[in-house]
Amino acid sequence: MNIENGFRFIDLFCGIGGFHQAMANLGGICVFACDIDASCRKTYEHNYGIMPAGDITKIHEEDIPEHDVLCAGFPCQAFSKAGKRMGFADEAKGTLFFDILRILNYHQPKYALLENVRNLASHDGGNTWRVIHDSIVESGYNVLDEPVIFSPHYIGIPQHRERVFIMCVRKDIGTVPPFVFNESNISPCSVDDILLDEDEIENLAKYKLSDDQITWINNWNTFIRGINCAKLPGFPIWADSLCALENNPMVANWDNLPKWQQNFISKNNELWMQNIKFIDNWLKEASKCPLFFGAKAKLEWQVGNIKNPDIWEHIMQIRPSGLRVKPGTYFPALVAITQTSIVGKRKRFLTPRECARLQSFPDSFICDKKDSQAYKQFGNSINIKLVDLFARYMFGDPEIRHRYSKESQCPEKNPSSSKKTKSISDNGPTLFDSFDY
Ligand SMILES: C[S@@+](CC[C@H](N)C(=O)[O-])C[C@H]1O[C@@H](n2cnc3c(N)ncnc32)[C@H](O)[C@@H]1O
Repeated sequence: MNIENGFRFIDLFCGIGGFHQAMANLGGICVFACDIDASCRKTYEHNYGIMPAGDITKIHEEDIPEHDVLCAGFPCQAFSKAGKRMGFADEAKGTLFFDILRILNYHQPKYALLENVRNLASHDGGNTWRVIHDSIVESGYNVLDEPVIFSPHYIGIPQHRERVFIMCVRKDIGTVPPFVFNESNISPCSVDDILLDEDEIENLAKYKLSDDQITWINNWNTFIRGINCAKLPGFPIWADSLCALENNPMVANWDNLPKWQQNFISKNNELWMQNIKFIDNWLKEASKCPLFFGAKAKLEWQVGNIKNPDIWEHIMQIRPSGLRVKPGTYFPALVAITQTSIVGKRKRFLTPRECARLQSFPDSFICDKKDSQAYKQFGNSINIKLVDLFARYMFGDPEIRHRYSKESQCPEKNPSSSKKTKSISDNGPTLFDSFDY
């Protein structure tokens, strides 16, 4: 392979090109991309001048150009917690891995870098991972025995997004040494790193919370600041269960309720009993807000037991299960569905550009004009700095390999505190050595 002229990569399930960004930064040239989604293909073309092909299942492997690196962040619904978790049984999405495999088998590129949701590691009691691992090995590649799980917030990027990374190195090219990450080395994060100043946001009003939304969240703030309890509640607060049990219509059906629901109803009732006067007054006031019904009459306080809580210092999401409040240090994983995070201290939703920054896309990236599409695309995408990290590790960048070695991550004799993966072989000569960084 002629490194001076760049290496060639293919971008399967390319989305908006998270892999493309990282591989191009490393000197790669994209020779093929595909994605079934027409809006993604348009965004991809706008940004990279390449119109991706469509459905991978319709693409013959012989029609794909020769390449050195295969990249694929394959669809995750079949394995993700949000989906039905059918895995390979999901014929439409679960088996797309085998499309990667047929291309890998045919072209035998030097490297392949795959990414999927964290759940892939444990899906079907580990069988799904075993099948993936064993098929890659049978195709002639070295791959770690265990999948590496990594999140942008480990390295100071304020997004909690644990994903599985699978580094494959063709057996004659080299190996994949154990990738070690010690959680005590997690870097501090700040959401300020990705937030835009208000005067930088076009159409700012569009992202601001409405007056009703502010009143509704203020009500929950009054609640969390006003209740008297030994510990702030870690269970979901359901406004319609903050009452005497005999007044709770759900109790009529008690024996048919699942245990978890009985448990939450009892806990809400106990909380009410400890705060009857405060809660009854609060409920009277809160129900005046037109938004206070359904999921918005539920609160999931996931910040822990802190002194002087203030909801506006945190990150929120409006979910089917209620208003979820998380610590203000980093954002929860961007998702493809509409649960755009609310930045408490700015009283507004994240903008698409800030979502791009959470995935480490450069500000020059051209987002889809439709916000709903842009949110979806970034939610489906991948953090570019993590692609860069795993590509460099896979290619053999000595600095990155050293950084994630056992010696660096666990210098003292305390390997039990590390997140560690085992390797099947040792370091060897790699393509990376020839790169000029
Ligand atoms: C997890 S996303 C990958 C996103 C990508 N890594 C990025 O940086 O944006 C999976 C992608 O697979 C695409 N996809 C699903 N089924 C497909 C198929 N049969 N052929 C090609 N692409 C498909 C989806 O449209 C989606 O964009």
